[in-house]
Amino acid sequence: MRITINGMACEAKEGQTVLQAARANGIYIPSLCYHDKTGVAGKCRVCVAEVKDMRGLQATCALPAREGMEVVTNSETVLQAQRMVVDLLLSTGKHDCIACEQNGMCELQDAAYYLHVERPGLQYADVKPDIDSSSAFVYVDRSKCVSCGRCVAGCNDVVVNEVLDFGRRGHGTSIVFNENLAMGESTCVQCGECVQLCPVGALTEKKSMGKARSWETHKVRTTCPYCGVGCQLDLHVKGEQIIRVTGVEDGSPNKGRLCVKGRFGYDFIYSEDRLTTPLIKENGEFRKASWDEALDLVANKFKQIIAESGPDAIGGVSCARSINEDSYQMQKLFRAAIGTNNIDHCART
Ligand code: FES
Repeated sequence: MRITINGMACEAKEGQTVLQAARANGIYIPSLCYHDKTGVAGKCRVCVAEVKDMRGLQATCALPAREGMEVVTNSETVLQAQRMVVDLLLSTGKHDCIACEQNGMCELQDAAYYLHVERPGLQYADVKPDIDSSSAFVYVDRSKCVSCGRCVAGCNDVVVNEVLDFGRRGHGTSIVFNENLAMGESTCVQCGECVQLCPVGALTEKKSMGKARSWETHKVRTTCPYCGVGCQLDLHVKGEQIIRVTGVEDGSPNKGRLCVKGRFGYDFIYSEDRLTTPLIKENGEFRKASWDEALDLVANKFKQIIAESGPDAIGGVSCARSINEDSYQMQKLFRAAIGTNNIDHCART
């Protein structure tokens, strides 16, 4: 379809909303409650625009694109409406960007910057931080929450852990875990989907706090080293150090989702306990050895076992962290070189 946004001719695909079509054509419309994965919520009204022959302002995240549609996102009427919403959100929360972990990655901050909202114009009350740091990996500050509902939709509809919901009443409405438990006492499995979906600094990763500002890191895409699913990760790296891990939203098979290990279990690479050289046990004690010495020892032991008891006396289990090619070579070694079908894979770490 051909639609016009701010006078510019744009292509839109069947089934796309105006917001999706705008993004696909490189046009920024501020938005908060919409996420490709959690879909249309139509709550925040930051994404409004004028549309020819339609009354009032339209939420572009919920508006299907139609052939010939004429959309305006940069008129004074639209910008004023967007500014008012952003101003209200900034005024009713504790959005102290300088100290916030989300600084530089915050969608509310982006909207405020785009709309030139420099400071909240409607200071309602002195909002106090509302912290829940009871869980292992997630830091919750409800005073930064904009009630967009992305975390709730993600928890219930995307990863289906069904822990998060809205609770409390009126102005005090906020996200809750189970029946308003502390996150650490709830049934949350710490997959961190809520952290990945949160557009502001209400749900952030504990372990990365204070380690780097977002602009100091660069992303390195890789495959999760744990089980065989092969989830796609972005490592956010500062210098030589991983600061945080996020799932790749448009990457198969996980589409941004991760489990607790993939998202938060990356410290092992810095462990002092990692083996960096082969060890051979002598008289009950391990001593360091060269690869040649270790491999000769293993090969000789294999030969000895085969000579005494035959090849089926040996079995091999390859590591779940091995790549496909290594696992292939492992089975080849056991079947072709050693001569046994005793070969398996531990499937999960
Ligand atoms: Fe459209 Fe929130 S992004 S209403």
